[in-house]
Amino acid sequence: MCGIVGYVGPRYATELIYNGLKRLEYRGYDSAGVAIIDETSGRITRRREVGKLDRLGQLLQEQPTNGHIGIGHTRWATHGAPSARNSHPHASMDGDVVVVHNGIVENYQELRAELQAEGVVFASDTDTEVIVHLIALYLNQGHGLPEATRLTVKHLKGSQAIVAMYAKSPDQLVAVRIGNAGGVTLGVGDGEMFVASDIPAILEHTRQMVFLESHQMAIVKADGYVVRTTDGVPAQLDIHDIPWDAVAAAKGEYDHFMQKEIFEQARTLTDTMRGRVDFENGRVRLPDLELSEDEAQGLERLIIVACGTSAYAGLIGKFLIEHLARLPVEIDYASEFRYRQPILNDRCAVLAITQSGETVDTLAALEEAWDTGARIWSIVNAIGSQAMRLADGYITMQAGPEIGVASTKAFTASIIDLYMLGLYLGELRGVLSPAELRQHVNALMALPDLAGRVLDHDDEYQALAEQLSGYKNFLYLGRGINYPIALEGALKLKEISYIHAEGYPAGEMKHGPIALIDETMPVLTIAIKDHVYDKMLSQIEQARARGAVVIAVATEGDEFIKEKADYVIYVPEVSEMLSPLVTVIPLQLLAYHVATLLNCDVDQPRNLAKSVTVE
Ligand code: G6P
Repeated sequence: MCGIVGYVGPRYATELIYNGLKRLEYRGYDSAGVAIIDETSGRITRRREVGKLDRLGQLLQEQPTNGHIGIGHTRWATHGAPSARNSHPHASMDGDVVVVHNGIVENYQELRAELQAEGVVFASDTDTEVIVHLIALYLNQGHGLPEATRLTVKHLKGSQAIVAMYAKSPDQLVAVRIGNAGGVTLGVGDGEMFVASDIPAILEHTRQMVFLESHQMAIVKADGYVVRTTDGVPAQLDIHDIPWDAVAAAKGEYDHFMQKEIFEQARTLTDTMRGRVDFENGRVRLPDLELSEDEAQGLERLIIVACGTSAYAGLIGKFLIEHLARLPVEIDYASEFRYRQPILNDRCAVLAITQSGETVDTLAALEEAWDTGARIWSIVNAIGSQAMRLADGYITMQAGPEIGVASTKAFTASIIDLYMLGLYLGELRGVLSPAELRQHVNALMALPDLAGRVLDHDDEYQALAEQLSGYKNFLYLGRGINYPIALEGALKLKEISYIHAEGYPAGEMKHGPIALIDETMPVLTIAIKDHVYDKMLSQIEQARARGAVVIAVATEGDEFIKEKADYVIYVPEVSEMLSPLVTVIPLQLLAYHVATLLNCDVDQPRNLAKSVTVE
């Protein structure tokens, strides 16, 4: 959840690290800090500040420090309240060693008591601080920083990503990854090296990235790096050339990343299809899935695991894949799946959907599937992330960096991936004829344009937001493939505007939520011209009869619905299968505008984080 950045090289480190942290602030924003080996004193100087990163920026201006090696951290509090004393980097008692950390030291209380018994005085309430004191103890016994760090991690329970720096070896950083608490990415520059928990932090400096595996550590110097396992065995890792450009991770003309990412969708839908949808031959190619025709035909079940918005994409995937490939699909929250002893075998495939590829519950769900014979797949945005590397086969989202904490373009990219997966399996399993396949592929061609047409009506969504931003509760209703869109629309609203919103399958309204409905609770319905249109109309009637203000997302040309709903949002006509891709966009923008009208921090909503790497 937290963000880590480190640098060693000829440039001055402070600003470079601070700018890297800015790009990671979406991961955590309770407090932040940097530690630099000061070029004049040779001592480690730390600057830490509670609150958003610009407060640290201000502190750095008031109390500058600079040197050619340093580490920084932006925090999402787990142990110890957000405060300056609990901010990273944490230091040893003599101030010569510092660490930044992502994850939880599960046995920290025990370790803390042991260290206190040896006379260590703690300066914070965090679990992290035990790490730095343990390293200091090993340094005092005569070990170098790499060995002291290696010996330290042997004491720690739980998943961790750690970077350590030592004033007495001012040419190196030591980075370790244990488990799935967050990535450790090394950026390889020309005579300089970077360390970060995520690619965007350092992408403006290099595209050459190395990703540490679990139980590996790197000794990082300006002129290169060495990787070993935490048992001391040398390891070789590939250098990945990352295609994202740094400009794509900047806000540009937009006020917020979320706004930018919503508007990018007309383009990202094309990017997601690029190289995989063959419009000429009416086929889909997913070579990275590593699946033969025989294997596809032998599949009896697909189980999708994911969290948050990605789980709602998975719900849509169930509709798509069952329909297109006639393969039974189960969908489960990763956090539930991992603890329910799922029944798996070699005729199953387990598919994780994850933008970050680092969500700890989703990774643990994949681990649950290991050794069961099940095929492991992932749909993932972050190239080189754990979920991509753990899988037997994967489909990338190709949506580019998503910075806004509330996911938008990754959601629509996942749906396209799931649609492509449905078509691919449908062909391999002999369910779809070449003509049907071509028809489905052709339908995809129009999508980016349709998304663009929805985005063109943004001023209408803004006007509607002005009408609705005063309400405290909302009910979102959808049916069939648009039921997950009701869930996602409600989630977007609550995440960024802190307004209570419930998503419900419309037919279930009468079994509970209807009791809540009165004139204070607007009901947003997705009522496009699909096979359940008439049913939606009766639900709208029922809500209106209870005094609700009704908003309907409807198909262009449907004049009748104007008589039924107080407000109508028109979307272009599109096949039912692909309709979620156009119905979700107005709901993303509605939530965005309500949140900005309420002066909420859209990109960094309170208490949330972009990659949830703790349980
Ligand atoms: C967090 C984010 C959500 C995201 C979810 C799953 O809760 O705030 O926007 O949908 O994690 O993330 P993933 O990276 O696994 O898709």
